[in-house]
Amino acid sequence: MLLLIVNALCVAAAFNTHTKPATYILRKPSTSTTLYANPNPNPTIVTVPLSGSRSYDITISPSLASSSSTNSLPSLIKSSAVLVVTSDKIAPFHLKNFLAHLTESLPSSTTFHTCILPDGEQHKDLPTLNKILDAALQLKLDRKTTFVALGGGVIGDMVGFAASIFLRGVNFIQVPTTVMAMVDSSVGGKTGVNHAVGKNLIGAFYQPEGVFVWLDLLDTLPDRELCSGLSEIVKYGLIRDKGE
Ligand SMILES: NC(=O)c1ccc[n+]([C@@H]2O[C@H](COP(=O)([O-])OP(=O)(O)OC[C@H]3O[C@@H](n4cnc5c(N)ncnc54)[C@H](O)[C@@H]3O)[C@@H](O)[C@H]2O)c1
Repeated sequence: MLLLIVNALCVAAAFNTHTKPATYILRKPSTSTTLYANPNPNPTIVTVPLSGSRSYDITISPSLASSSSTNSLPSLIKSSAVLVVTSDKIAPFHLKNFLAHLTESLPSSTTFHTCILPDGEQHKDLPTLNKILDAALQLKLDRKTTFVALGGGVIGDMVGFAASIFLRGVNFIQVPTTVMAMVDSSVGGKTGVNHAVGKNLIGAFYQPEGVFVWLDLLDTLPDRELCSGLSEIVKYGLIRDKGE
């Protein structure tokens, strides 16, 4: 699974940046006991090369629980406030553990806020996006705040767009929880919401500061979503195939 995801990410990164394929860098060890465990227990980093200082890393680790000392997420958070946005379907599975991970790795002065949205593509719209902006404004978050998207492509697209327009742009980090989001939607900076006229018609290109893939978040993913994501990987495999 890890190799499939890394390969798909490399193709996605290359496509989304229109530049050379991304590079792999191996970092410190970690462990996992899940189905998605990396046979090589080191986190894998795929760099998405962009112009200037805008390049960012996709850090792929086997397990959230075992990665606190091995990832760079804390270094990407520049403020004392973090807004984690997720859905009411994903939150019961992963929010508590994710917040525990953040609390462990960030200074005690950091304040964590959460915004839980209704789940599903039918809620990928402006009224739901407005709930993120409402929460951020009511909390008086400032321009240094980091928005974190904990979810699949729907959450990632909405949080990225909200980050692009809140106070004219704040940092955001993608923590994808579906295969589809891990190999496709969290990379490339396409963000937005649907309109009654069509899908993804309102949005912006806005790159994340980083993408953090923890493979054990997939343990709770329904089979149907898993298969849908795997078919994206097959698609990328076909795109990459030179047909020789
Ligand atoms: N930005 C891009 O480049 C890009 C690319 C492709 C697709 N997309 C967008 O991505 C969206 C589709 O994303 P998706 O396929 O991830 O669907 P999704 O975000 O709707 O997630 C599918 C379902 O799985 C649930 N789920 C997610 N993670 C889970 C987990 N770990 N455990 C249990 N349940 C979980 C969600 O709550 C949801 O009900 C579409 O809106 C599409 O437009 C964007």
